[in-house]
Amino acid sequence: MNKLAVVTGGTRGIGAAISQDLKAKGYRVIANYHTNHEAAQNFAAQHDVVVQSWDVSDAKACQDHMQQIQKEHGPTEILVHNAGITRDGFLHKMPVYNWQAVIQTNLNSCFHMAQAVLESMRENNFGRIVLISSVNALKGQRGQTNYCAAKAGIIGFAKALALESALKNITVNVVAPGYVDTEMVQAISQPILEKIIQQIPKGRLAQANEIAHAVGFLVSDAAAYITGETLNVNGGLYLS
Ligand code: CAA
Repeated sequence: MNKLAVVTGGTRGIGAAISQDLKAKGYRVIANYHTNHEAAQNFAAQHDVVVQSWDVSDAKACQDHMQQIQKEHGPTEILVHNAGITRDGFLHKMPVYNWQAVIQTNLNSCFHMAQAVLESMRENNFGRIVLISSVNALKGQRGQTNYCAAKAGIIGFAKALALESALKNITVNVVAPGYVDTEMVQAISQPILEKIIQQIPKGRLAQANEIAHAVGFLVSDAAAYITGETLNVNGGLYLS
């Protein structure tokens, strides 16, 4: 049977491109989403992908849904944890709940999702985990202390889990996208987005499928010896 891939935040933006790319490569794909049922149903109908709603910031929801998925579809061989939010604002004006929401959804969710799949990956002596970070984890960004902290935390988390998992044939890697042409980036005010684009050596935003291709490589057999790494896909932004 083809390998089962679970993609969180997998019905919109970068996650949707990842779900589509993995589906096209022959994987069985389950795309998680949170609240946008309409987008999820449209995505499921268009791309023949199973969609399922739960909140990755909720540890129990991750355990329960992954248990149910594995009961119905068999063990998860691939986890792409992409779901994430922004609550941008300068630190001196940031309410504590915007700090907590971003840490809970973007970083604590790595613990929730990885724990929910690890037992079965360890039993099967196979697994591919890819976590989606950001160029801003490495570079920093005004208005994103919460997001940069969470996305940088993901990189340390992946390295430690890669060490723990290597002998079980489970690789754990990170893809760190730059600014991608998705709703999240389109929400930035036009003057600020223009300033950001001016800093990108490639001179443009990424397309979501350019991130998906990197993920597709890291979950493939060709990447079996790559673990604990961060693959940057940012049009040179980190260099500028
Ligand atoms: N680059 C250059 N200048 C910036 C800037 C940036 N990234 N962010 C803020 N500034 C400047 C503003 O232009 C402004 O300058 P002036 O006073 O000269 O006009 C000054 O800093 C203050 O900014 P604001 O007036 O916008 O302050 P605010 O309190 O109203 O808003 C903010 C703060 C919400 C953080 C807003 O500045 C903003 O949205 N910044 C962009 C944050 C960002 O890049 N978010 C990325 C979202 S996408 C994502 O996160 C995906 C990913 O992984 C890359």
